[in-house]
Amino acid sequence: MDGDLAMKTLKLQIVIVFALALTVIARADDGAPLSEQFNIKLPRGIPSDLWEYFVPKDNPLTASKVELGRRLFFDKRLSVDGTISCATCHDPRFAFADNKKVAEGVGGRRGARNSPTVLNAMFGSSQFWDGRAESLEAQAKLPLISPDEMGNESHEQVVARLQKIDEYRQLFKEVFGGPVTIDGVARAIAAYERTLVSGNSPFDRYIAGDSDALSESAQRGFGLFRGKARCNVCHTFNQAFPLLTDYMYRNTGVAANNTTFEALARQAAQAARNNLPMNKLDEFARSEGGQSLGRFLITGNSLDIGSFKTPSLRDVELTAPYFHDGSAATLETVIRFYIKGGNHNQNRDWQLEPINLTEGEQRDLIEFLKSLTGDDTRRMVESGTSDLQRPAFDVGQLNIRDTRR
Ligand code: HEC
Ligand code: HEC
Repeated sequence: MDGDLAMKTLKLQIVIVFALALTVIARADDGAPLSEQFNIKLPRGIPSDLWEYFVPKDNPLTASKVELGRRLFFDKRLSVDGTISCATCHDPRFAFADNKKVAEGVGGRRGARNSPTVLNAMFGSSQFWDGRAESLEAQAKLPLISPDEMGNESHEQVVARLQKIDEYRQLFKEVFGGPVTIDGVARAIAAYERTLVSGNSPFDRYIAGDSDALSESAQRGFGLFRGKARCNVCHTFNQAFPLLTDYMYRNTGVAANNTTFEALARQAAQAARNNLPMNKLDEFARSEGGQSLGRFLITGNSLDIGSFKTPSLRDVELTAPYFHDGSAATLETVIRFYIKGGNHNQNRDWQLEPINLTEGEQRDLIEFLKSLTGDDTRRMVESGTSDLQRPAFDVGQLNIRDTRR
């Protein structure tokens, strides 16, 4: 893991140098039509080199691609019966989550997991609670054909439906120079998601030097977060990677809420010892309560049994309920979970131990978590709009251009 991190840092440094070089090139060349330029104003606290690092070179942002992605994201016609869009479960009014314990898709069918916010999802090294999708592009194709989500039989079915709609035929031609394809759908949606960046929270202003931005209670909470409560062991913070997570997979014992977990975990460990074939993982995934095995379903590594991705804590105040199974209704419940050291089980992370927090300290910790809410996100949720409006004083304006066309 240390090696990985060092590698990432090195890569980041290389990227910074390249990014600086590219900025110069982009400024020198002014010829492209306006529709090919995309300006993003990044919120305070999110470094522009980090953002650029997570925009893949083979799917650069353009204004028209982002607009196409936005329309697709909010369009219920992407589902088999016209009732569900991505935004049904990733709703701007709920900070791009859905306020439900577990997701509800076509025909009211329920999945096994809580819908995470897609705000800042671009910074994840992989997508989903168990990391089974490597990129936003790969992720976007899956809900379309999930029977519990958008319910289509195949990607061809989605493509054929969109191809009949004039607006999409035209936009795909404009953006990708051809007919509707599933890759195009995924690339456009992913491009739009890379504009859903949230920062500029009181905490970001505090880190930037405004010591009045946090209440005294929140400041004490920050101290506990890094101190006695040891939250930052997993929800790491530093200015180069300010997401309040390292996106690693850990077993905190939430999985043990599922009554079948213990028996399944034993079978899974047994199977892993016997060099299990990959199709055995699918069998586990489909079994009753099998989703509680988490990251194990992807790696087959017994150390990953019951492990889930450590989520970002940005905007966490607005994305209840919490945990991969939606089992914690409030932040108070989350804190109580950590006070007892998570749920005991064989694979529980060794870093978790019971912690001793007075009621006042619990309130301070929650005040701190609430200071991670971005102003733009709060405004969006409170006004019920779907746009993250960036205030004029924000820095980090970029000018990214699709250089392939
Ligand atoms: C029926 C509700 C539902 C619909 C519709 C839906 N999602 Fe999700 N989404 C979820 C749930 C639940 C998860 C977590 C599933 C898991 O981890 O196994 C998720 C996970 C994600 C993630 C990963 C975020 C992270 O931090 O790991 C992204 C990105 C995402 N969805 C985008 C989309 C897009 C794009 C669409 C439309 C093409 C879409 N979703 C449609 C419920 C939904
Ligand atoms: C050992 C690593 C670890 C430590 C220490 C840790 N967390 Fe977590 N945290 C996680 C993981 C992993 C999850 C997701 C668990 C799941 O859903 O199965 C999570 C989930 C959460 C969530 C829910 C977020 C959401 O969107 O659902 C909150 C809030 C949270 N942690 C806050 C804290 C606080 C506060 C502390 C300190 C008291 C803390 N965490 C300590 C790993 C950790």
